[in-house]
Amino acid sequence: MKVMVIGAGGREHALAWKLAASPRVQCVFVAPGNAGSAGEDGVVNVAASGVEQWLDFARSEGVGLTVVGPEAPLAAGVVDAFRAAGLRIFGPTAAAAQLESSKAYAKAFMQRHGIPTARYAVFDDPQAAHRYVDEAGVPIVVKADGLAAGKGVVVATDLAQAHAAIDQFLVGRTLGNAGARVVIEGFLEGEEASFIVMVGAGQALALATSQDHKRLRDGDLGPNTGGMGAYSPAPVITPQLHARVMREVIAPAVQGLAAEGTPFTGFLYAGLMIGADGTPQVLEFNCRLGDPETQPILMRLKSDLVELIELALDGGLDQAQAQWDRRVALGVVMAAAGYPEAPRSGDPIDGLPAPDADCRVFHAGTALAAERVITAGGRVLCVTALGDTIRAAQRRAYETVDRIHFEGAQFRRDIGHRAAGRTGARGAA
Ligand code: AMP
Ligand code: GLY
Repeated sequence: MKVMVIGAGGREHALAWKLAASPRVQCVFVAPGNAGSAGEDGVVNVAASGVEQWLDFARSEGVGLTVVGPEAPLAAGVVDAFRAAGLRIFGPTAAAAQLESSKAYAKAFMQRHGIPTARYAVFDDPQAAHRYVDEAGVPIVVKADGLAAGKGVVVATDLAQAHAAIDQFLVGRTLGNAGARVVIEGFLEGEEASFIVMVGAGQALALATSQDHKRLRDGDLGPNTGGMGAYSPAPVITPQLHARVMREVIAPAVQGLAAEGTPFTGFLYAGLMIGADGTPQVLEFNCRLGDPETQPILMRLKSDLVELIELALDGGLDQAQAQWDRRVALGVVMAAAGYPEAPRSGDPIDGLPAPDADCRVFHAGTALAAERVITAGGRVLCVTALGDTIRAAQRRAYETVDRIHFEGAQFRRDIGHRAAGRTGARGAA
């Protein structure tokens, strides 16, 4: 079978690598992919962009399965278009993808279905939003309603920050229409974890748990980014908590979407805040795999990903078991100079190692120029290693990071610090 992956990041490089490893797959096309996917055996980058070109390409090449990486094509209705054309695709329809593309929709959905989340209010009138913040006090979180590529959330610790965020989103329209409405919600304390499941035919199969590091600098300081590193499993998700999240978050979400006439198919990602008492609350839903969480998760996946996706599409996830490497996988993101505000492109990358079974460098913002790999985006690489312990995985990943060079590279030295701090702890898969 020929498979197509839509997207250009580290998540898509990892997906293409894993899908190409399936004995069922003859060739994986990545649209548009990056220099890393171009170098994988059995993977070919294609220049197609936009729903019409993806459809044309899938039809003319006889692509038997398409997997969508990022949220924007989902919100734009790529799944609806492929289904209407009778083509197999794994991802939610635009209607189901609202769970990510509108935070106001997601919050109301969670409230309707009793899914634990912070209390909230929605505003399009700035004066009403300012009044609400004055009454509620800080800390408080101001979120743009629409897709904002990680720039739409302000965790305000003083009132001035909250008021400024309201003015930027609603009045200044710094995020365009994505900020035409804001969700203002209560601040939650605790430890974050990424809980990603595959969904199809009303059934859900949990992938391995993971944890992301969103801030740019060591010690969780500096600006928010798309994610500077991740590891799997997340020890904060104990087996008991895993069962509770499946029961209190995933099952009502999957059943609720189906009951409302927008059944979900695809990867569903619950961003969780685990309180000190072990209570999970949902910070956000994403309707796709996480990036960089996918890179360590797929390093640990021993099952055939194509088979799991087919079970999801055909109804059989309730019988499925995913097999996971017992080891820890940890990915360190290397980002370009100037990331996240103004990443610089075009710097040559040296020292990229040949992949081996325990360490792979997944590319994100890279391109080929005169047979050299150069930087071509904010997050450039995700160096991902397996180890018997979190410290062993860290050691292996950082040994490789230290051999790779490009001008102005930014990366954190402390990916995995939370798990490393819990000596001996081991959570659910
Ligand atoms: P989101 O895109 O909604 O996940 O928000 C991005 C980041 O902002 C999250 O990963 C959290 O670190 C933080 N955040 C979002 N909502 C809250 C909240 N209600 N309380 C505390 N932190 C939050
Ligand atoms: N790493 C966070 C996300 O993919 O949304």
